[in-house]
This record gives sequence, structure tokens and C-alpha cells, in this order.
Amino acid sequence: MTRYRTHTHRATYLIVYPLRQRPLMNKPDQKFEFSRVSLNNSLVAGATQAAATVNRTLINDDNSDREFEFNDKDFSRVRALILKIAGISLAPSKQSMVYSRLARRLRACNHNKFSSYLDALESNPGSPEWEQFTNSLTTNLTSFYREAHHFDLLKKQLQSLSRSSRIDLWCSAASTGEEPYTMAITAMEAFNSMTPPVRILATDIDTKVLDHAKKGVYRMDQVDKIPDDILRKYFLKGKGESEGLIRVRPEVQALLTFRKLNLMDSVWSLRPGFDAIFCRNVMIYFEKDVQMQILKRFAPLMNPNGLLYAGHSENFAMARDYFSLRGKTVYTVNTDKAAKTGPSGENQQHIITA
Ligand SMILES: C[S@@+](CC[C@H](N)C(=O)[O-])C[C@H]1O[C@@H](n2cnc3c(N)ncnc32)[C@H](O)[C@@H]1O
Repeated sequence: MTRYRTHTHRATYLIVYPLRQRPLMNKPDQKFEFSRVSLNNSLVAGATQAAATVNRTLINDDNSDREFEFNDKDFSRVRALILKIAGISLAPSKQSMVYSRLARRLRACNHNKFSSYLDALESNPGSPEWEQFTNSLTTNLTSFYREAHHFDLLKKQLQSLSRSSRIDLWCSAASTGEEPYTMAITAMEAFNSMTPPVRILATDIDTKVLDHAKKGVYRMDQVDKIPDDILRKYFLKGKGESEGLIRVRPEVQALLTFRKLNLMDSVWSLRPGFDAIFCRNVMIYFEKDVQMQILKRFAPLMNPNGLLYAGHSENFAMARDYFSLRGKTVYTVNTDKAAKTGPSGENQQHIITA
């Protein structure tokens, strides 16, 4: 056995590779193990999980051990389709991820290889399976108060706005709801009211996560970073069969409208007048030109001084004609330019808000 030592600031693990084998070769019997050197339970759990992922990858990369035939051509087809439908640009390294995510769909639709699943999909443009295909390939990682500094700023922004007319906010990649519910709670805190003059439109391409979001039910461990006083004010704790679960209060849910919206669609059917758009951790999946097209269409939907909140690793500097950086990953709309622009959303019908 060859042993490699990796260090983190709190723990050290030994990664054990079988002798004379390079790591990440496609042999299903190759397993990584982590043996603990110094004790830290959460890191050990993380390392064990990472080892399991690597082992799954080893197994999945070898077609001979796979349940379904899946080759480079199939992967290229999947990449082209999801790029076209959702704008999602999948890196070449995502081949195993694609296999494991879509294998479930092949099972559900009784296909024995990827090519026949993809043939069936492509020969039926109206098939409901397109929705399942898309849902399977989105990445929905999110959490309450993610990038918490945005909510401090949102609170200040809301307090600076007049209470006399309704304030509209849009959460454009809402995932399972943690982000738009945090926006709603922030609005309630900002106005010190359970009925603030705020409405939030929460959209996503993925219908499965939207169903979850509408329910507003989460596991206790998903809310463990929320301060106790906020939990008590805005959540209901599950009892009996719902023990271990927590639910967003109906007053919070009342501020939100959930709707499917694909940012790639040529028509969004949105009425302008948003004071803030949250578009966080979704643009990273898109190519720059796609990001630019979307940003151009955000601008005319926003009120003067409206703020665009981006994800921590997203940079919209290329859209400086439309948005100016105001602080850490927050941009102010340039109203003049936005007003003159009828993006490619030139003739888009502006109809629905929350
Ligand atoms: C990583 S999650 C980010 C969730 C949340 N905004 C956050 O920052 O915590 C990305 C979300 O973008 C959604 N998404 C991906 N492509 C999309 C598209 N073309 N239109 C709308 N939503 C999309 C995914 O379904 C997913 O829920």
C-alpha cells in the first residue's frame, strides 16, 4: 500500500492507495480509505463522505461496471441539450455526475442505454420527460442566510424605500426556497411587521425544487445557522410525525409567489418595477455571452437605484453599461442605459409579478 498524507488545519488524514496503482484509475475494485490521525468528528465525516464520492466515481467511470451503457458521445449529447435548454454549461469533468443523475431517469423510463433514452427524448419535443431531464441536471445547493452580508444590505435598502407603495423583489434562482424565505424574513425584520409592503417573486427552472420551496418544510439541521429569536418568530417546529422538521410560518409564505421561469426563455412575462433582483450562484453555470444577455434583460425590469445581488464567485463587470458595482457582489442598475434598452427582451410581454 502507498500512503499519502493530506493535511487540513484541524486534522490530518492518511489516504491509502493500492500499491502500484495511480489514483483515479478506472478500476472498480480500487477503494480509497481514510484513516483518522487526529480526532475531529465533522472533518472525519466529511472525509468519509469524500472517500465515498471518489469510490462512486471510480465505479461509475468504468462502463463495464455500469448498469447502463454511457459513452463519450452520449455525454456530448447531454451537454449540448442542457446547454440549449437551460444555458447550463457542463464541464467535461461532469461525466460521472451526469451518469448518476440520469441513470434514475433511464430506470424510470425503462431504457437500457443512454442512447435510447436520448433518442426517445429528442424525437418527442413535447415529452414531459424534458422537465425531468432538466430537473436532474440542475445543481440546487442553497441555504438560509447564504452570503449573509446581502441580507444586511437588503434590510437597509428596504428601510430606505417608501412604505407607501408595494416593493417588489425577484429571486431568480430560488432553488428549494431558503433564499427567498430569507428575503421575506429580512423584509419583515426591516419593517418590524408580519405584513410588510413587500412581495417576492421566487422563480427557478427546476419544478422539483419549486415544489419543495412551496411547502416551506425543512430539516432541523438546515436551519441550525438561523438565530434562535428568528427561528421562534418565523418558523413552526414539527411535532409527532413531523418531529425533526421545521416549517416556515404562513405569514412568511404569504409574501412569496413561486413560479417556474427559465432564464433562457425568450419571454419572461414579468412586469417591470423590481427594487432588487437576487441572481445568485446560477450565472456560474452559464457562458459569459449568456450571462450578458440575461443581465441586459434584468436592467429594464428594475426601478431606479434597484440592486442586483450576485453570488460570491460571480462577476458582472462585462455588463458595466447596465450595472455598476456598488459593494461586495452587489450592483446598482444604470437607469439611463436600462431605459433605452429593450434587450433581446425588447418585445417581451411584461405581465406577472408576485
Ligand atoms: C446553486 S443553486 C443557487 C440557489 C440560490 N440562488 C443560492 O444562491 O443559494 C442554482 C439554481 O439555479 C437554477 N437554474 C439553473 N439554470 C437555470 C435557468 N436557466 N433558469 C432558472 N434557474 C436556473 C437551478 O435549478 C438551481 O436551483
